[in-house]
Amino acid sequence: MRFDVVTLFPEVMEVYLQTGILGKAQESSRIEVHLHHLRDYTTDRHRTTDDEPYGGGGGMVMKPEPIFAAVESILEDSQGDVPVILLTPQGRVFDQAIARELAGSERIALICGRYEGVDERIREHLATDEISIGDYVLSGGELPAMVLIDSVSRLLPGVLGDSEATEKDSHTNGLLEHPHYTRPSVFRCWEVPEVLLSGDHARIAGWRVEQSLRRTLLRRPELLDQARLTDEERGILEELMQAEEEDSK
Ligand code: ADE
Repeated sequence: MRFDVVTLFPEVMEVYLQTGILGKAQESSRIEVHLHHLRDYTTDRHRTTDDEPYGGGGGMVMKPEPIFAAVESILEDSQGDVPVILLTPQGRVFDQAIARELAGSERIALICGRYEGVDERIREHLATDEISIGDYVLSGGELPAMVLIDSVSRLLPGVLGDSEATEKDSHTNGLLEHPHYTRPSVFRCWEVPEVLLSGDHARIAGWRVEQSLRRTLLRRPELLDQARLTDEERGILEELMQAEEEDSK
């Protein structure tokens, strides 16, 4: 899969993209990430990428010409529809389902905004999608672009090794993950739950399912409406909910 990122700050993305799983995914050509410096697509002497807003009000707005020029040049020889995603706090809120949807594309172009925002004509006539990574405001779209590239890449075949497989990750099945422990079995006075040391794989699996459901119920109950649960998991969840009710009486 190929990602093209249009940004004023490609250098802030480079280190992260070269590190760990994303670095390996590029070395093995499972993903390609092309960073494009927006200033390279300006035509004036000052390489201007922003200007004052019409109507006043302060702040700066990113000009349409360089962003259109960049995206059109990058996608010039592309085939089929390539999603052009503007990262903006006004977009649809990113989650694992959107990551899965995007992982089905062969190619994605990402536009990172800065300043107060981008000229509206970019939203209307260039971007095909707008994505926010959450209801808070960042200084630019670079971190959101990296969040998107990271989470989408992890879903592509061959990017994760078996030991890192995504099936058990939080959110993959709509639930939060169970707790993890490693050596030592007693740290300070805190012990690893006995079941994890028992060697009884069925009991361990049952404990993990229950912990995962309990955590989701206590921390993110709204996720349970959408979670794909087996009958057995539903049964455990009902018991947990009853226990919670008893406790709160
Ligand atoms: N740009 C600034 N804040 C953002 C956010 N929360 N998501 C996506 N892009 C952004």
